[in-house]
Amino acid sequence: MTNGNGAARVFGVDIGGSGIKGAPVDLDRGDLAEERHKVLTPHPSTPEAVVDGVVEVAGHFGWSGRPVGVTFPGVVTDGTTRTAANVDKSWIGTDLAGLLGERLGAPVTVLNDADAAGVAEMTFGAGRGRQGTVIVLTLGTGIGSAVFTGGRLVPNTELGHLELDGHEAEKRASTKVREDHDLSWPDWAHRVQKYLAHVEMLFSPELFVIGGGVSRKAHKFLPLIEGIRAEIVPAQLQNNAGIVGAAMAAAAAADGAAAAAP
Ligand code: BGC
Repeated sequence: MTNGNGAARVFGVDIGGSGIKGAPVDLDRGDLAEERHKVLTPHPSTPEAVVDGVVEVAGHFGWSGRPVGVTFPGVVTDGTTRTAANVDKSWIGTDLAGLLGERLGAPVTVLNDADAAGVAEMTFGAGRGRQGTVIVLTLGTGIGSAVFTGGRLVPNTELGHLELDGHEAEKRASTKVREDHDLSWPDWAHRVQKYLAHVEMLFSPELFVIGGGVSRKAHKFLPLIEGIRAEIVPAQLQNNAGIVGAAMAAAAAADGAAAAAP
């Protein structure tokens, strides 16, 4: 998996509520090797329609026959999508790795979107070198979570669905909720603070990394959050964390397969 210059490259795709974005990733730098390509997420966002979108994104770069990593905004085990909080319900029980693998003629690794972003942040971003418990939270359409200890991920933690004030936390403190209800930054920061306090009570992390598009505006709300013991920092890879993490997961799977080969 090296290009002519010897740099390792793997293709990463981030399936989101609004867009399907992908690019070849330079795994040495933890960054996109080329400008990413995006197609709009189809509505309804059924597996067939989204798979077409991923194939189009890979096709834009002429990428075939080589490993691909893909994120999905729900629980993923063994390449199969198990939940669908913010996408079409027909995703539940879909063998996404199998479907895409057939279409792309390549090994496909699928993982949760927040897990992918977290893996990238832990290696190339805000969590680099941190060995204690680190929790990466993506505040977007929903709330995604990635929990690490000793640098290792506990996949599919789904902390966005914890209960907060009698509701699912992501229905109180996501970016979508802030936008839909036109909440002021202080009002929204107060909700995020309550949520962080709840997660801190359960896990006592040393660090929270706040990701999702809103991490670009961290200065507007992070300084308003008080009373949390853990350090709280914005994500560093921002929009590309999912793509980079997806590619990293695919590379790790390819290495694992090579090591297991007789
Ligand atoms: C899903 C998670 C996902 C998060 C962010 C939640 O609704 O259940 O799996 O990581 O949204 O997309």
